[in-house]
Amino acid sequence: MTRAATSAGPRILVADDQPDVLESLRLLLKGEGLQIETVASPAGILTALEEREFDVLLMDLNYARDTTSGREGLDLLSRIQSIDSTLPVIVMTAWGSVEVAVEAMRRGAHDFVQKPWENARLLTILRTQIELGRALRRGQRLEEENRALRDGSRLDLIAKSAAMQPVVQMIERVGPSDANVLITGENGTGKGVVSQALHAVSTRAGKPMVTVNAGGLSEGVFESELFGHVKGAFTDAKVDRVGRFELADGGTLFLDEIANVPLGQQTKLLRVLETGELERVGSSRTHRVNVRLISATNSDLNEEVVAGRFRQDLLFRLNTIEIRLPPLRSRREDIPLLAVHFLRQHAQHYRKSLTSIEPGALQALLEHSWPGNIRELDHAVERAVLMARGDAVRVADLALRPGRESSSRLEEMSLEEVEAFLIRKALSRYDGNVSQAAKTLGLSRSALYRRLQRYGI
Ligand SMILES: Nc1ncnc2c1ncn2[C@@H]1O[C@H](COP(=O)(O)OP(=O)(O)OP(=O)(O)O)[C@@H](O)[C@H]1O
Ligand SMILES: [Mg+2]
Repeated sequence: MTRAATSAGPRILVADDQPDVLESLRLLLKGEGLQIETVASPAGILTALEEREFDVLLMDLNYARDTTSGREGLDLLSRIQSIDSTLPVIVMTAWGSVEVAVEAMRRGAHDFVQKPWENARLLTILRTQIELGRALRRGQRLEEENRALRDGSRLDLIAKSAAMQPVVQMIERVGPSDANVLITGENGTGKGVVSQALHAVSTRAGKPMVTVNAGGLSEGVFESELFGHVKGAFTDAKVDRVGRFELADGGTLFLDEIANVPLGQQTKLLRVLETGELERVGSSRTHRVNVRLISATNSDLNEEVVAGRFRQDLLFRLNTIEIRLPPLRSRREDIPLLAVHFLRQHAQHYRKSLTSIEPGALQALLEHSWPGNIRELDHAVERAVLMARGDAVRVADLALRPGRESSSRLEEMSLEEVEAFLIRKALSRYDGNVSQAAKTLGLSRSALYRRLQRYGI
């Protein structure tokens, strides 16, 4: 549930069925600058929470119908959680009923006080919980803002080429379902963008899309990022922390670079995917989550399975649907559109009045092999925008170099592409000197000229 920050004092909801208790709490809390609202029954709590936003809930566990066991209050805790998972709840229990208090904490209460309470202690607990709750919600809001930013770029999925049509159809067909999707493709092919598009066309679009990048996280950090932890779970765990799975509840979790998830964590991940249940690190309390998983990788997960680095059963869970993104060199028709799109973006950003790309520059973009795919194109255009002086990008502004990786991609090129590639390489090595280039290539000058013409070099 999304909750806006309040500028006025923190809002507290107090629940107790004894009018005198409510009255003395009201007096105490008013002096602390808190905005107080009181209710006298469990049903009153639920109604209030559904209607308004609070920073903390202070609730008695015993109600007239069931005064001693605290059961009614306990049953309420999970319903409160489902209305607002980030609301700090403090329970009041009868003196001497520590077991009930402990059970309440197990079910999600953040702290407890025993009646009759000590004012100073109660106020300290309240202040701490309000602070923690606000920090948690700030974190959640940031997530949402990031999502909004990402959504902005999502609208710019450029995919006119024939090679991208299967991708576009897949997004339209499986996007709205809850099916798990695995997106594969080389670096920079747009796996992130496609994941946003999938979320945006889904029924979960109004809910958060939360991203975790599994690359570069140590096993311990990954675990607490994903599943959260409780205070004291390890040395640095000073406060409870909600994991990304819980933050994504009702929405989508995007697990980027999934091949890097350590084997031990793969087992935990599998369990959440199978049961929807997880425990925070250091806690035995089970949380249920409803999350759609989108994952992405540039590795071949089948190979990873064979090598014993990836669990096959997890792969089967992840790739209900697989979307393969073609490399940019297989969708050259999109290059002009993408280039103009990036040109607009960067020209606006750097406040330059660039409006076009000269034909020669466009030709160079079309011929480049783009080992770094769309991200490389983006960067090339950005650099050109910075370099360009007039109102059009020229070939020299692009400073395209044959990529270091390009030779390793030779096996993916056609014979003609390889020939054109080698000729370009030879020419650039000898600064355009045709005689020298012809000599290294073992061709006569005229044979080289014929080829230059054929390939439009
Ligand atoms: N089809 C597209 N239309 C417009 N922009 C795109 C498209 N695909 C990718 N981009 C842009 O190219 C850049 C790289 O895309 P993205 O980060 O999604 O790639 P990736 O496959 O996730 O890369 P990596 O494997 O390195 O994480 C981003 O700036 C993205 O906005
Ligand atoms: Mg990415």
